[in-house]
Amino acid sequence: MPPRERATPSPRFASRIDVDLTPNALAAALAERRAAGGRILDLTTSNPTCAGFAYPEAEILAALAPPAALRYEPDPRGLPAARAAISAYYAARGESVDPDDLLLTASTSESYALLFKLLADPGDEILVPAPSYPLFETLAALESVRLVRYPLEHEAGRGWRLGREALEAALSPRTRAVVVVHPNNPTGSYVAAEQRAWLEALCASRGLPLIADEVFLDYGRGAACETSFAGMRGTLAFALSGLSKLAGLPQLKLGWLALAGPEPTRRRTRERLEFIADAYLSVGAPVQHAAAALLGLRGDVQRQIRERVSANEVRLRERCAGNSDFRVLEREGGWYAVIELAEAVDEEALCVRLLAQHGVLVHPGFFFDFARPGVLVVSLLTPPADLDEGIARVIESVKSM
Ligand SMILES: Cc1ncc(COP(=O)(O)O)c(C=O)c1O
Repeated sequence: MPPRERATPSPRFASRIDVDLTPNALAAALAERRAAGGRILDLTTSNPTCAGFAYPEAEILAALAPPAALRYEPDPRGLPAARAAISAYYAARGESVDPDDLLLTASTSESYALLFKLLADPGDEILVPAPSYPLFETLAALESVRLVRYPLEHEAGRGWRLGREALEAALSPRTRAVVVVHPNNPTGSYVAAEQRAWLEALCASRGLPLIADEVFLDYGRGAACETSFAGMRGTLAFALSGLSKLAGLPQLKLGWLALAGPEPTRRRTRERLEFIADAYLSVGAPVQHAAAALLGLRGDVQRQIRERVSANEVRLRERCAGNSDFRVLEREGGWYAVIELAEAVDEEALCVRLLAQHGVLVHPGFFFDFARPGVLVVSLLTPPADLDEGIARVIESVKSM
């Protein structure tokens, strides 16, 4: 007989990790299909390293192996050469960012974590757009801060805009920062110049920092609104980016935040951020030494991604054209397309059915907090043949509903 296990008191987990770990219906359906070995047309692919792009592999590997990578030279802001390379990236975009205003992180997610630690006490509030990036919820919960959403409002033909009145109404004495995603995931909308000026004035008048997530900044159409918040002067601002999307290299774990705004606030902020980063020193030496070379290689990868995304968008629009069940919303940048269904359907039930009966995986709109039910989100990074076949199946399935 096996020895009886002694009952021991269970550990108490922190309330910030008091989460429901049961998979939702779509995740359960996906696990089931995978276990059964069923084919999946995955229209949610957002990992560029698995999407069929040609990377300059030898150059990437060579850049990661310089002798200097064998030395440990801890610097809470990141190695000066890496910060200089990032500053040069901004200069190539026509924007000026002092290397001293840059702080390296292992990812944009880590940048958020540092900023929430810097700005918010437990229970304080951070304003984020809706619809937007689903990971905000987790990132905020892990720092014990509360998310308060402000709407991005869609108007046919004009695209997405900040809901100014609702944003102002969402401010409270516990608000500690306002987040913008520029361009937003998944709507692909940039913060237009007049909205940015309005936000800057609002935040300056309240002493509120702005956090601008710019991971998709380079994936627009070259419009004037595509400038970085790293150039903001009127209020304290943080522009977040990294190699993950910029160079299509999420596995290398190099992100950064660029500090902007008036002195002496910027100096005081920099000192405190350095103090926090010094406790972790999380960015590895090889990627820091490789930063200049990797940023130098971004052009060809970006070109392939841009071509894929725009060809897929054309294809998707052609497929949905003349079909009154679907409307592909306008997009200015990023990697995603938003498809609005004419009927306000139960998205989760639809997505589970698409997967279980047709083998197609798409995101339901509620993942991103769309106000109106009946939205599907697809990644335009999807290999074209998969997108084509997948969308044809989605159209067929919705028609037969
Ligand atoms: C808006 C947004 N921010 C941040 C990230 C994550 O970036 P990183 O890989 O640098 O953590 C993503 C990834 O999809 C994203 O969509």
